[in-house]
Amino acid sequence: MRPAPLSGRVALVTGGSRGIGRGIALRLAADGADCVITYRKQAQLAEEVVQAIERGGRRALALPLDLADPTGVPATMERVAERFGRLDILVANAAATAFRPMEEQKPHNIDRTFAISVGSFIAAVQAAVPLMRSPGRIVGISGIDSHQAMLRHGVLGAAKAAMESLVRTFALELGPRGITVNAVSPGIIVTDSSQMYMERGLEREWTPGAATVIEMTPVRRLGTAEDVGGLVAYLVSDAAGFLTGQTILIDGGLTMVSPMNRLKEGA
Ligand SMILES: NC(=O)c1ccc[n+]([C@@H]2O[C@H](COP(=O)([O-])OP(=O)(O)OC[C@H]3O[C@@H](n4cnc5c(N)ncnc54)[C@H](OP(=O)(O)O)[C@@H]3O)[C@@H](O)[C@H]2O)c1
Repeated sequence: MRPAPLSGRVALVTGGSRGIGRGIALRLAADGADCVITYRKQAQLAEEVVQAIERGGRRALALPLDLADPTGVPATMERVAERFGRLDILVANAAATAFRPMEEQKPHNIDRTFAISVGSFIAAVQAAVPLMRSPGRIVGISGIDSHQAMLRHGVLGAAKAAMESLVRTFALELGPRGITVNAVSPGIIVTDSSQMYMERGLEREWTPGAATVIEMTPVRRLGTAEDVGGLVAYLVSDAAGFLTGQTILIDGGLTMVSPMNRLKEGA
């Protein structure tokens, strides 16, 4: 039997209590990593993820961390150092925003959205790198809003575009130390937040809205947290050591299709 590819590694996934972050944490643990997950307020859900990882034979820890305040990040990383003595993998997954048109955006939402996806991303990388040794792996979870205009998604899209830019600079600066830095850009993945965006952002009911997205997607389904977890597992593996500074789309083909195709009936 081949050894688990991430055996002996320690991973931290922000926002690992549910949705995509949960899927990533469970996959990294299945591949052999001990996992720290952070959450904002749903401690019970975070504890359930910890228990699932421990049942699989890996060590796990859930820590509260509100990424709207980047100054809280170093203390969390100190607790990782106390418990595990090192960090090999950082996945900056958590994000939050208010789905509003740009004309109605409030300064506090702009600040909070950027604090989580930009300020805390920088703070997390800064605090993680001293705990890393070669090979280190950093992955930021971006989104298709970084390069496609999406109604009521403008502020988060701008923050994700900034994150993708930072990924390239961090990759440049950290590559010589054996640390790769990449972003994953998911399309529509079934989670609480995609459902909330469909209902509050686009004012469509989830079931018919999702059916329309499926029809527009070449692989004819929505994405899952497991899909994203699988890609992250590859990016943090030894096999991906020559891959850095990239943003990898995982969207079932949704965003590579020209809207012009819709002019042809049945396309
Ligand atoms: N779902 C999609 O279709 C999709 C598409 C493209 C990109 N993405 C990106 O994928 C990532 C995960 O999305 P998701 O759909 O899985 O989200 P989700 O289901 O809403 O989960 C969000 C996670 O982030 C945590 N979180 C929320 N606000 C936080 C804060 N201020 N500080 C720290 N943690 C906070 C939550 O913790 P609690 O449970 O404690 O609240 C939870 O663990 C995000 O970066 C999102 O932008 C998602």
